[in-house]
Amino acid sequence: MEENWNDIDQFTKSSIKEAGSKIIDSFDEVLKIQTKSNVNDLVTNMDKQIEKYFVEKIKDHYPTHRVLGEEGFGDQVEDTAGTVWIIDPIDGTMNFVHQQRNFAISIGIFHEGVGMLGYIYDVVADELYHARKGQGAYLNEERLSQLGEVPVEEAILSINATWLVPNKKVNHEQFASLVRRVRGTRSYGSAAIELAYIAAGRLDGYLTMRLSPWDFAGGKVLIEEVGGTITDLKGNDLSLVENSPVFAGNPAVHSEVLDKYLKH
Ligand code: IPD
Ligand code: CA
Ligand code: CA
Repeated sequence: MEENWNDIDQFTKSSIKEAGSKIIDSFDEVLKIQTKSNVNDLVTNMDKQIEKYFVEKIKDHYPTHRVLGEEGFGDQVEDTAGTVWIIDPIDGTMNFVHQQRNFAISIGIFHEGVGMLGYIYDVVADELYHARKGQGAYLNEERLSQLGEVPVEEAILSINATWLVPNKKVNHEQFASLVRRVRGTRSYGSAAIELAYIAAGRLDGYLTMRLSPWDFAGGKVLIEEVGGTITDLKGNDLSLVENSPVFAGNPAVHSEVLDKYLKH
């Protein structure tokens, strides 16, 4: 089916802004906080309410579209046929609960597996990153530049300290030598914000061990639209229906770090 991407884009932007207002309003209310896979994996009534809001609105306007959402109010999505929305209603829930900032709404819209539209909304900063395939990426009304070349020595790398101490998943020494080489490191606690920052050139690389499709779907569309690269740690394309380690970055930083630190 032919989609009207202009219409979908307008619909998504206004829905995201409305969802953002709901979240801001919730700051005056007492949150109901629960844990999921472990004691530090938090979910609140707002994560659920916002996802439900999107799913109901999408199903109403676009009944043939499928929705893959973190909190499970959408569809059971196991393939990428047709038009699929991949939604994280609040990415950075721990920040949302503890800091009331540094969290984002993330949405990627894919057609037959191709990223068509991407959105990351940093609600408190009121920064909406948005991209449409072939038509550029924007931060609010401002067009984002294509990513230029940055030497690894001048790169700012986003990495969580967990991967720099002995851990079960990766050889921390390998990451430590990369950290010593780059200009600086950061960690914001929201994959979506970190990916948006890559697209905006505020970060040059982001390395993380386990993300779900809703963490990176919106960011993938944004990053690819400005000429950045987003893959797993071996340089393979990310699956839109499976969890994966993720390495995103400026193309020069991505290719050198992949070759020298990750591939073997
Ligand atoms: C989490 C954040 C965090 C990342 C975790 C994600 P959530 O998402 O993006 O930065 O390190 O892997 O699960 O649970 O806050 O939506
Ligand atoms: Ca998330
Ligand atoms: Ca979430």
